[in-house]
Amino acid sequence: MFRKSLVAVVAATTLALTACGGGSDSGGGSDAGGASDGTITMGFAQVGAESGWRTANTKSVQEAAEAAGVDLKFSDAQQKQENQIKAIRSYIQQQVDVIAFSPVVESGWDTVLKEAKDAEIPVILTDRAVDSADTSLYKTFLGSDFIEEGKKAGDWLVEDSASTEGPVNIVELQGTTGAAPAIDRKEGFETAIAADPDLKIVQSQTGDFTRSGGKQVMEAFLKNTPDIDVVYAHNDDMGLGAIEAIEAAGKVPGKDIKIITVDAVKDGMTALADGKINFIVECNPLLGEQLMDLAAKVVAGEEVPARVVTEETTFTPEQAKEVLASREY
Ligand code: AHR
Repeated sequence: MFRKSLVAVVAATTLALTACGGGSDSGGGSDAGGASDGTITMGFAQVGAESGWRTANTKSVQEAAEAAGVDLKFSDAQQKQENQIKAIRSYIQQQVDVIAFSPVVESGWDTVLKEAKDAEIPVILTDRAVDSADTSLYKTFLGSDFIEEGKKAGDWLVEDSASTEGPVNIVELQGTTGAAPAIDRKEGFETAIAADPDLKIVQSQTGDFTRSGGKQVMEAFLKNTPDIDVVYAHNDDMGLGAIEAIEAAGKVPGKDIKIITVDAVKDGMTALADGKINFIVECNPLLGEQLMDLAAKVVAGEEVPARVVTEETTFTPEQAKEVLASREY
């Protein structure tokens, strides 16, 4: 049960630095930090609200902070790196006890991470990684193995196409350009489908992890690419957008064109159970509790593992039907 008496201000807001301010009585900074009453103040710089996954992730972080009595300062970067950097700088200025963030893209974080380190504020990466060579700039990285997710998607297709003669034309809806899940899910998928030379990615473009992006890019693919056999979408939302485009073009998603996605949020699982998606690789957004545990340890100056990988599974339509009613997000 959540401890309502210790509710922090956790409203999701668009990034306004004023929204990041106030409320902290933290002494800030040191590895054995926290306020004198033991309350930890966390600055959390979220990517945005681009997908069902992200909404579930935000809810998980906010609810877990409330349950743990963590004073959460939350900002929504609207998928812009500059907004996340501003938010992190604001958290440094406010001397929060710990900063957690899910980087929009992998590159370009060294300067601001050094600023946090110089201010002795520990940083936790959650969901997405950075490509900084200096791993001392953050304490730990909690999240999925995106390469493995891409491999699972590709392995399924290799098996599913085993009895098919001739080329299989795949179109790929990539996530946000430069984001870890877009880079890694592409890499993992390509590695897996290399096992069958008939499997070819004939088009690949970003849909920015959004439903509207997936729909728009799929509409273009359908106009300019003959004989699309498979859509590989880096998340459910783009896959759901692609379904709308496929149906509008008079084709049957899941039959005329097979669809593979990543996430397994409720809308995706519903489409899977309905046969409109053929296979989903799970990416678990419920990272809040683990994040609060790691934050408490890091603020107390305890050692934490450098990498905490989320456990995940995959779903076929039959499996989706079984679990849909009890799906949490
Ligand atoms: O970083 C996780 C990815 O980001 C999810 O797969 C996607 O839905 C989200 O936008």
